[in-house]
This record gives sequence, C-alpha cells and structure tokens, in this order.
Amino acid sequence: MKLSAFGEKFSARCGAVELMDDLGNALLENPDAILMGGGNPGKIPQMEEIFQQRLQSIIDSGDERHQLLGKYQSPQGEKNFRQQVAEFLKHKFGWALTEHNISISNGSQSAFFILYNLFAGKMKDGSHRTIHLPLSPEYLGYADIGLSDNFFSATKPIIEDLEQDLFKYRVNFNNLSLDNNIAALCVSRPTNPTGNVLTDGEMEHLDEIAQRQEIPLIVDGAYGLPFPNIIFNDAKPHWNQNTILVLSLSKLGLPGVRTGIIVASEEIIQAYNNSNTVINLACGSLGPAIMQPLFKNQLISKLSSQYITPFYRQRAEQTVSWLRQALKGLNFRIHKPEGAIFLWLWFEGLPISSATLYQRLKKRGVIIVPGHNFFVGIEEQWQHKHECIRVSYAGDEKSVKIGVNIIAEEIKQAYA
Ligand SMILES: Cc1ncc(COP(=O)(O)O)c(C=O)c1O
Repeated sequence: MKLSAFGEKFSARCGAVELMDDLGNALLENPDAILMGGGNPGKIPQMEEIFQQRLQSIIDSGDERHQLLGKYQSPQGEKNFRQQVAEFLKHKFGWALTEHNISISNGSQSAFFILYNLFAGKMKDGSHRTIHLPLSPEYLGYADIGLSDNFFSATKPIIEDLEQDLFKYRVNFNNLSLDNNIAALCVSRPTNPTGNVLTDGEMEHLDEIAQRQEIPLIVDGAYGLPFPNIIFNDAKPHWNQNTILVLSLSKLGLPGVRTGIIVASEEIIQAYNNSNTVINLACGSLGPAIMQPLFKNQLISKLSSQYITPFYRQRAEQTVSWLRQALKGLNFRIHKPEGAIFLWLWFEGLPISSATLYQRLKKRGVIIVPGHNFFVGIEEQWQHKHECIRVSYAGDEKSVKIGVNIIAEEIKQAYA
C-alpha cells in the first residue's frame, strides 16, 4: 500500500493509538479489569433519568423524530439550538453572543483537529507555526492531531508545594516567551490529566499575552464551565472575542452522542464552518435534540451544580482519602484535585518508570495511564515525566477502592 504523507502520518500507530489499543486489549484479555485509565464519565442516575426522558419524548413525537433522523443539519449546527446556546451563555455570563458565534461539532475532539490545523503548521510563506501549551502536562488527545510534525510547543510548569501531600502546577510566565512562530495558546480548564484549574489570574495573564501577540487563546472546557461544571472551586469562566471556548456534552454523561460546541468570534466560526462542511458535511443532531430544552431557564447549569459537581467532588475526596490510607509512609504526592475526573499522582524518585508501573498494574487487572504521554510538546529529558500517573475516579466506588489498594501494593513493591 503506497500512502501519502497524510496517509503515513495518520495511519501510523502513534502514541495515542497505541495507548487506546492497549487499553482496549487489556479489557479483552481481562474483562474484569478495573478501568481507571480512560476518560469515561461516571454514571449519575439523575442525569441518566433526564436523558432517558428526553429520548422517550423524541421517539414519541413524530416531528422531532423526523427532524432528528431524516434531515441533514447545516454544517454549523441547527439554528435554534445555536440561538439557545448563545442566549444561555449571554444570560449567564453577560457575553455578547449571537448564534453566529456558535458552531456545533461532532465531538470536541474533531473541533480541535480543525481549529488547531486552521492556525498551526505550515504557513503560506513557508514558515512553521505551533500550538503552544502554556501549562504542560496537557490532554494526550492533542498529541497527534497536527497535519505536520513538531506541531506543539509547551512550557514546563512551576511545581508549587501545598499543604500535606498536595502540589499544584502553575504557569511559569517567566519561561513563557512567545515568538512569531506561535499560532495560538491552548489550555484545558480543568486540565486533563491533572485536575488543575488555572486560576483567574493565570487566565487573565494568558489572555493579555494572546491579545498582545494577536493570536487566539483556545480554552478546552470539556470538564468546565458552565457545564458539566466539574470544578471544585469558584473559578470564573473566561471568554472574549479573542478566545475560542470549546465545550462538550461528553462529560455530562453523553460521550456517545459526539457533540462539541465552539464559541468564538464570527470570523473564526465562519472559517471553522467552511472547514467542517468539507470534512463532515453536517453535524449529528442527537446531542442538540436531547439538550435543547435543558438550555431553557438555565436548567443545564442547575443540573450540573445539583448533580454533577457534587458527584465528582465526593468521588475525588473519597479517592484521595483511600490513597492516603493505602500509601501511608511512602513517597507520594497528589496534584490538588480542583476539577475534572482524574487524580494525578507523583511518585518522586520511584525506581521504576510510570510505563513499567502501568505494565505491572495491567498484569494485576488495573488500568491507569502512565504520565509521560501527557507532556505533549516537551521534548527534553525530565525525570518528572516518568514519575506520574493519571487515575480516573469516575468508575464505581467499589472498583476504585480495590484499584487504589492494588496501585499502593505495586508502589510499595517498586520502592522496596
Ligand atoms: C480535555 C479534553 N478535551 C477534549 C476531549 C474530547 O472529548 P469529546 O470529543 O468527547 O468532546 C476530551 C476527552 O476525554 C478531554 O479530556
């Protein structure tokens, strides 16, 4: 098979593909494996009930059913839905938005593919631009998204010691020196993998830098504000004409409907829509159909803070407490859990790499993700990259507890 450069790059077994395959195979080899690796949201009965009722009412209504299954939506998404999202955000945060600032994508992952490649890579004048990640580690799903190589650059964080065994990554603004080869800044907030929530001050500072440099600030709000609101402090949401905010329905409990929402200036939305027409023709309509009534009266915000935020906050606290018991006396640190659905654990001086730890845990039937995968754009040798793991606490409590104890046993063994 003779492949194009595109074909070679995208059919290759890149890091993310290998990892996803490995996670999938682990499950095939051991169907009882405890899955603390992937990004699946937790099962929240109250949310499931609401989605069930919405589906039922769509099925029962012939009109809605035809609208959902029998028609192509426009490439930017159905107009009513975009109007409702714009109204919802305008009312909640005072952002000056209309439906022309909103576009719908088939999952936020595919939105990132288009957006990143709109800005970074080979420029018309032959120069090359990168997407810059100001706070590494970042979401592993970005890693292989670029149409060209060396697509990302990143800044190593400041590691701040906090009380007890906690630490927090902070943006190292002293080292964040941008040149004209940076196409955009991107942060996930809350951050996958660490559960960090960039402070309001950090966001303002990044916004200032982006505006000065005349590049967009892309904010990945897959876990964030205003929904699903898996944030445990009172971070302020951020958007302005220079910001591209990407939201997703996945972590509300709907990863299967593949719906992302892009909020940006009209110029960027237009560029995005044109590209999306070529690539996808139209967007799936199930996510918008389920969600439409929930945007009325700010219902989705109320549901998020009533059911989703407390669910994950309780899970995070519980899992931290189990970890503290199980790892007592060992050298471990936990990134302060401020949001998202993961804990980021740091075993400084661990005699084995996190990749070896991953293999050993897999043999014991526990799946986590080794940390080095998340340092996208950081090429240099740095021991820290191999001392961390990401652990999801979204699964059922009993399994998470067993998983924590097995992780602790393997850590004990490794230090011994
Ligand atoms: C930080 C972050 N961004 C984006 C995505 C992509 O989500 P989706 O394509 O389901 O909207 C994920 C998925 O786990 C994620 O963790």
